[in-house]
Amino acid sequence: MAKLETSLIHEGEHFNTTKSVVTPIFQTSTYLADDIDSFAQAAAATKSPEFYHRHGNPNNSQAAALIAKLEKKEDALVLATGMAAVSTAILAVVKSGDHIIAQNAHYAASLTFMRDFLLQYGIEVTQVDQTDNNAFEAAIRPNTKLIFVETPSNPNLDITDLEYIGKLGKEHGILTMIDNTFASPINQVPADFGIDIIVHSATKYLGGHSDLTAGVVCGSAAYIEKVWRRSLLLGASLSPFDSWLLLRGLKTLALRVRQINENALALAHWLEKHPLIKTVAYVGLESHPQHELAKKQMTGFTGMLAIEVDGKDDAEQFERAQAILSGLKYFHNAVSLGGVESLITHPASMWGAHQSGKNGNQPSFSKGLLRVSVGIEHIDDLIADFEGALQGL
Ligand SMILES: Cc1ncc(COP(=O)(O)O)c(C=O)c1O
Repeated sequence: MAKLETSLIHEGEHFNTTKSVVTPIFQTSTYLADDIDSFAQAAAATKSPEFYHRHGNPNNSQAAALIAKLEKKEDALVLATGMAAVSTAILAVVKSGDHIIAQNAHYAASLTFMRDFLLQYGIEVTQVDQTDNNAFEAAIRPNTKLIFVETPSNPNLDITDLEYIGKLGKEHGILTMIDNTFASPINQVPADFGIDIIVHSATKYLGGHSDLTAGVVCGSAAYIEKVWRRSLLLGASLSPFDSWLLLRGLKTLALRVRQINENALALAHWLEKHPLIKTVAYVGLESHPQHELAKKQMTGFTGMLAIEVDGKDDAEQFERAQAILSGLKYFHNAVSLGGVESLITHPASMWGAHQSGKNGNQPSFSKGLLRVSVGIEHIDDLIADFEGALQGL
């Protein structure tokens, strides 16, 4: 069987039926049928790559085949955004009267989708502390259909025990689903721990260049067919061009992520020693309270760090966080993550109103918290950038 780096270049290339070495962009909304019978066949086929764009497209099929391979799943479906993937994946599992177990900490829009949207359609969600295995089991009800986890979680970088969740789901006949965006399949393969459904915001590490939005859902072929049927009605197809960009980005996924892992670990070590940095949450640091669990289920520790700037009170922490943001030259103050360029954001400003705290529904972000997405620039320049920004404080 081909190794990961080879799959990144070649998996799914049979969807390129042209002589072009690089799959062309199939920039068309509709496809010719030879006759009325083949038209009827294409209309009825699941994920037909050549019928009508909402049903499928060769670029989308190639990207999906490749990501399914990386995630060790039978099949996958690419969609227009990470949120299209999260919402469609969940809507393919639950109906009114069902119950979901999720975490206190998730990407903010995933939380809003569960708390506001699903609730209006009669689907209940119980949120638990992801660092407490027993809390997941205690939350199980007879109508629980799905356990949804995110690890490492956005933005606080807590870890969920995947082996425990995989077993818990199997024991109780409940589907398990993970948002694997922060880790990427280079650093974490949840299927190895029995997780059934894997979603990504492919906008992040999978695309890797901050030039597209995309999402992907991976799972069994039978489940992906259900997701596809939902997606036909919800309509969030990934555009051929974005799909092509995703394929191009995926070719270098392993190289990018390994460099990012290395840079982030070095930056985390440097920041941890700086007197103005109160805490550095990075799952690769021994000081991370769940480092041992991270080592067990991850092969690399990602480019995501959450750092808290010190200060005598909220006001001083906020002032210093602002000064760092404006003092940095290479870390751009922008939303999103996982690209080749380093980015930094202030979670309290961005999501304060949406995100739940660890043990409740109140925003829990410190005013001094900064979320860092480390890129592939030279590590000496990245450290010098922080050194310069912290010097003036
Ligand atoms: C962990 C995680 N999941 C899902 C999403 C949603 O992805 P998109 O913005 O592509 O819809 C994001 C976006 O930041 C994210 O960080």
